[in-house]
Amino acid sequence: YDLLNKQVQEVAADCHQLPERYIRKEDEEYGSHTNAVESSSTITSPEVPVIDVSLLNSSPLELAKLKFAVGSCGCFQAINHGIEGSFLEKVREISRLFFRSSVEEKKKCLRADDDIEGYGNDMVLSDQQTIDWNDRLYLTALPKHQQRLQFWPQNPSHFREVLDEYSSKIELINEVVLKALARSLNLEENCFLNQYGTNSSMSARFNYYPPCEWPDKVLGVKPHADGSAITVLLQDKEVEGLQILKDDQWVGVPIVRDALTINVGDQMEIMSNGIFKSPVHRVLINSENERMTVAMFCMPQTEKDIGPEDDLISDETPRLYKNVTFTLDFFFKNYQQGRRAIDACKI
Ligand code: SIN
Ligand code: FE2
Repeated sequence: YDLLNKQVQEVAADCHQLPERYIRKEDEEYGSHTNAVESSSTITSPEVPVIDVSLLNSSPLELAKLKFAVGSCGCFQAINHGIEGSFLEKVREISRLFFRSSVEEKKKCLRADDDIEGYGNDMVLSDQQTIDWNDRLYLTALPKHQQRLQFWPQNPSHFREVLDEYSSKIELINEVVLKALARSLNLEENCFLNQYGTNSSMSARFNYYPPCEWPDKVLGVKPHADGSAITVLLQDKEVEGLQILKDDQWVGVPIVRDALTINVGDQMEIMSNGIFKSPVHRVLINSENERMTVAMFCMPQTEKDIGPEDDLISDETPRLYKNVTFTLDFFFKNYQQGRRAIDACKI
C-alpha cells in the first residue's frame, strides 16, 4: 500500500487528514511497560545534568556528577567535549542540505524494505504498528570497511568528508566517556572498552521531523531505549522534542548551546550490571517547526558478547544480566515483539 512507501515528509506535505497509521495508540505494547503520567507541561532543565567532559580526568567532583547523572536518568548534557561549535554546525548543515534536497535526490539513498541502512521512514515490522512521524538516514559510519557507500548522499558533495571526520571525533568522546564511567565505579578504566573488542562500530542516524498539524496525535519516535553502549545526540539548534522517562514522568531534554546530549544504551546497562540506566525516551512533534537531529550510536564490535563486569558482582549485588551478543537483529526482534531488548537479557 502506497502510504507505507511514502516518506513522512511527503505525507506531511499533502495531507488534509492524518492517515490512521500515524496515530499513536497509548496502549501500544512497547510503551506499555511504563506507567508514565502525561503531563501537559513538560518538566525541564535541572533534571538532565550538564557535565564538563574536559574535567572528567582531573575532577573527582565532576566524575561523581557523571556517575549520579547516568545512574539516575541515564543521560547528560556534555559540554567542553572537544568538538568546536563551528564543526557541529557543519554536521547540522550536511543534514539540512540532504533533507532539503529533492525527493528524487534523497531516494538515491533509499533503503530496502527489510534493511535499516539508508534513507526512509520508520521500519514497518507489523501490521498494527504505528508509524513514527520521522524520516531518517541511517548509515554505518565505523569501521570504515563496513560503510555501504551506495547509501551515502552524493549531495552535498562534502557529506562523506564531514561524516567521516565527525565519526572520528565522536570515537574520541566515546573513549573518554567509557573510561570515565569505568573509573566512576572504581573499575579499571579500560574495562568497558576492552569488552568492545578492537573494532568498535558506530552508526549515524540523521533524523528529520516535519511539523504536523496534529502534534498530539503523533510521535516523532515511539518510546524506546537504545541498544548502543552510548548514544551521542546532536540536537536541533532551536527546536526541542526529546523526552526521557524519569521516575514515571516524561522529562524534556532542553537544548544546551554547543552541548552533545549523551545517553547510555542497553549495552552499558548490561556491562554495569544495572548501575547505569538505559533510559526510555521518545520524541514529540510540534505544529510549526521542523526538527533535525543526528544520533551517533557507539557499539561494541558485532558478534562479540558482552556481560556485567565481574568486579560489580557480589553477594549483595548479584549478576542481573546474562552475557549476550547484542546485534541489531537481536534488538529489533525484541522491539518487534513489544519488549525491551534488555528484558530478554535479564537472568
Ligand atoms: C531517538 O532517540 O531515536 C531520536 C532522538 C531525537 O531525535 O531527539
Ligand atoms: Fe533513541
